[in-house]
Amino acid sequence: MKLKKIQDIDLANKKILMRVDFNVVMNDDTGEIVESFRIDAVKETVNYILEQPGTKLALIAHLGRPDGKVVMNDSLVQIVPEVARLLGRPVSFVCDCINDDVDAALESIDDNEVLLLENLRFHPGEKEDDHTFAQKLASPFDLYVNDAFAVSHRAHASVHAITHFLPSAAGMLMQHELDNLGKVKEIDKTERPAVAIIGGAKINTKLPLIKQFEKKYDVVLVGGRIAIEAQEQQMIFSDSVILPVDYAKDKLDIGPETIKLFVEKVKGAKLITWNGPMGKFEQKPFDAGTRTLVDVIANDTDAFSLIGGGESVQALNESGRWDDISFVSTGGGAMLSFLSGEKMPGLEALVIEEED
Ligand code: 3PG
Repeated sequence: MKLKKIQDIDLANKKILMRVDFNVVMNDDTGEIVESFRIDAVKETVNYILEQPGTKLALIAHLGRPDGKVVMNDSLVQIVPEVARLLGRPVSFVCDCINDDVDAALESIDDNEVLLLENLRFHPGEKEDDHTFAQKLASPFDLYVNDAFAVSHRAHASVHAITHFLPSAAGMLMQHELDNLGKVKEIDKTERPAVAIIGGAKINTKLPLIKQFEKKYDVVLVGGRIAIEAQEQQMIFSDSVILPVDYAKDKLDIGPETIKLFVEKVKGAKLITWNGPMGKFEQKPFDAGTRTLVDVIANDTDAFSLIGGGESVQALNESGRWDDISFVSTGGGAMLSFLSGEKMPGLEALVIEEED
């Protein structure tokens, strides 16, 4: 997949609108950000853009699912200090993502500064992929950059309709995501054995992936709530799919025999793809399955390992083994869509040519 990249465009003196995915995990009680890796991940692109002469940069993002209404709990204002800290530069918040406020903020912005515009999903037009809304978003700008792989599986105005109104290019995070996920997708070209680990709670979203993977991977290990549901519904899979043989108390984690079995299968793999925890890892002792697998994957230094999905990334972060994983994807649902071979509306306008 060949992309239009920001490095191929003369950015000088351009006003740039960049879609990022700052849909970070928040603690409902304290309002604190639990996992801010998605913010950190766009730093390279932000720095690159602001190093070019005369550029101005505004970031657009969503938080939660406010459904076209203003919901203050989903306001992006609450993440401004963390965005400023992680990007290492001043961030000015604009309390709407369209209209005069944006023009005025662009006029007054300093060279080193970034604008963060209010939650796109406060407008119904975002989810409806509405052209009028997209045109309003686009109007103060010269160029659109998509650095939000994690939301590019959505046909939403800020990733799809907007590309009709501005020249569009992929940011560096988007490029890294597609390079690394592309390697995993082209599994026929990788060394074997290839092992996939799928866990988490949403059987409906993960079933297409299991169906894809069972044809391509040597082993597909399934844990978490989806394994329980698959067993309850007596789903039939091919022999490559391995379901748990036992569980911890109340089925809140995979059991000791399953951990042993899964570890045996992962050891020595040359490609490991993982999405979704094996149990309720945030509550001890039900973290055993997830944490043991993180360690086994991290110890397998010969393998190309890819981890994605909010909870898996959180578990990885807590384990302190981040640097031992080949690539950590910012995508949850987007990673599943991409690897399942689904069409991703946000990528359409960025692709110059599909490779065979
Ligand atoms: C995510 O968190 O996976 C993305 O930001 C997409 O969010 P959504 O599932 O609410 O569209």
